[in-house]
Amino acid sequence: MKHILEIIDYTYDGLGIGKVDGFPIFVSYAGVGDVVEVEITKMKKNLAFAKVMKFYEKKSVKPICKDFYQCGGCHIMHLPYEEQLRFKTNHVANTVKRIGKVDTEIRDTLGMKTPYHYRNKLIMPYDGALAGLYKKGTHDIVDVKDCYILNEQAFQITQFLRGKVDIRNVLIRNAYKNDSIMVVLISKESLQREIAEQLVSEYPNIVSVINNINDQNTNVILGKNSTVLYGEDEYEDELLGNRYKINHRSFYQVNIPQTEILYKEAIQAVDLKDKVVVDAYCGIGTIGLSFAKDAEYVYGIEINPDSIIAANENAKLNGIDNISFIEGKSEEKIQSIIEGVDVVITDPPRKGCGEPFLQSLIDNRIKEVVYVSCNVSTLARDIEYLNEYYSVEYVQPVDMFPHTYHVECVAKLIWK
Ligand SMILES: C[S@@+](CC[C@H](N)C(=O)[O-])C[C@H]1O[C@@H](n2cnc3c(N)ncnc32)[C@H](O)[C@@H]1O
Repeated sequence: MKHILEIIDYTYDGLGIGKVDGFPIFVSYAGVGDVVEVEITKMKKNLAFAKVMKFYEKKSVKPICKDFYQCGGCHIMHLPYEEQLRFKTNHVANTVKRIGKVDTEIRDTLGMKTPYHYRNKLIMPYDGALAGLYKKGTHDIVDVKDCYILNEQAFQITQFLRGKVDIRNVLIRNAYKNDSIMVVLISKESLQREIAEQLVSEYPNIVSVINNINDQNTNVILGKNSTVLYGEDEYEDELLGNRYKINHRSFYQVNIPQTEILYKEAIQAVDLKDKVVVDAYCGIGTIGLSFAKDAEYVYGIEINPDSIIAANENAKLNGIDNISFIEGKSEEKIQSIIEGVDVVITDPPRKGCGEPFLQSLIDNRIKEVVYVSCNVSTLARDIEYLNEYYSVEYVQPVDMFPHTYHVECVAKLIWK
């Protein structure tokens, strides 16, 4: 059945919402202000899904990427960039209010000047000479010939590899402040060094080629064993004036210019002078090392042993000695150091901090908490847990992932 409706809002994942006689219809690839004729694709009890048959008024735009409608890499490229930022701000505001149960200042999302080719890490599946990105919601490979969010040279390398080597996936990481590239070839069986020689002779700025063996039939990309085929298992980048060594397993933010904005927001949220600070879920130490010069002392806590090794090396590399890194779970290790801590900055994975960690903040009456989050739903859930003891001063969203529905936030909480 066909209906004509105006798009008035968005779902969390960027579908347009319109209504017919008060009944909500979620429309793919439509933006607020579009007036569309739609065809229902799936009817549920309280809502329906639909696709656009015809635009009567169009505020959404033609996506720059011709594979956008097939590929699962981007979700909202049909929205003008300013509208993407508005969508993210509203999504954060609604979620913090609904799940977090607080009324607080939600600042406008900080976007990029040029929101393209920002990703410094790509993972691409191969099936023989076929390489690409997964089709939305499937494991079918879309044979993409161009990409507007990946680093351009990293993408070229994926094309160079087509048909030359028997791999399951390639992982490519590139530095932002120099042109170093790391290529990780993931295969079922060991590869010859020859492919590394070919890569480096074609792209002399490749500083590291790793062969990771993964013969398991699971969704996990990296296997346990890796061999260095060229260079060393590291490359160097720079972030807010500090140098970092990154290995092929380390967590490292994927959009460095926006990470600099995000970290500046986290640092300026608190007065760090003479303060003892915890950087929980610290990865390779990038947040803690960025503010160590302003603080009295910093403790970083991280579960991944490779990241802890890298964090210690990074402290040495930058001559920073008022910081120590502790390997283990933040929710457990925080207990042993929390006495005398003034500020906690926490940057957990998507699942959020969880109750034991939050309870230690409450039990120890930590005065100021800066919560950096890549998942506003778990941020809001954790805010709700802290509500009785903490006020949320504001939430600042930052657009780390243009053209996708993901949004990063910095929330400042103070003891009531
Ligand atoms: C979103 S990343 C943040 C890393 C770092 N703050 C940054 O900006 O690059 C989350 C980090 O938490 C680590 N992690 C996951 N679960 C953890 C836990 N229970 N305790 C400590 N670290 C954990 C991951 O290995 C990852 O490095």
